[in-house]
Amino acid sequence: MAALEILKYPHPLLKKRCEKVDRIDGEVKKLVREMTETMYQANGIGLAACQVGVSRRVIVVDVSPVDPEKELFAMVNPEIISEEGEIEHEEGCLSVPDCLEKVKRKEKVLVRGFSPSGIEIEISADGILAIAIQHEIDHLNGMLIIDRISRLKRELYRNKLRKEKKKEEKD
Ligand code: NI
Repeated sequence: MAALEILKYPHPLLKKRCEKVDRIDGEVKKLVREMTETMYQANGIGLAACQVGVSRRVIVVDVSPVDPEKELFAMVNPEIISEEGEIEHEEGCLSVPDCLEKVKRKEKVLVRGFSPSGIEIEISADGILAIAIQHEIDHLNGMLIIDRISRLKRELYRNKLRKEKKKEEKD
């Protein structure tokens, strides 16, 4: 299975709130397989459907490169049902290249959703897993890491992109 193209900031789909999935069918299962393949090929630890151009509430997460005890999972319509504490960690995003910024998150979350087989699942997460889940749910709400950093840092990143674009146009 081929990996899909990952949309990059400032693609408008990344700013859109994704639609809830009302039926978990073969199409959703196929999407999950393709997203997983795409995430692995890009060496990511998480991916949201909108990043591959599908505006639906589906995420895949595999933080095992950072925390080997954790495993791959996919979640449809994930919802954070409780959260506590605070943690700050440097995050990157496959849709926001060359941007590594400290982002404040909740330290622990309890998330509920459905597996690709339609079974309701609940995951209690802390540390890097909690961070990754919150990052991917942010995507489903049209939110990127650059929306969570200071205006100054955001401006600096935009300027960097503009310069790179100009350079590409010259070459
Ligand atoms: Ni991301």
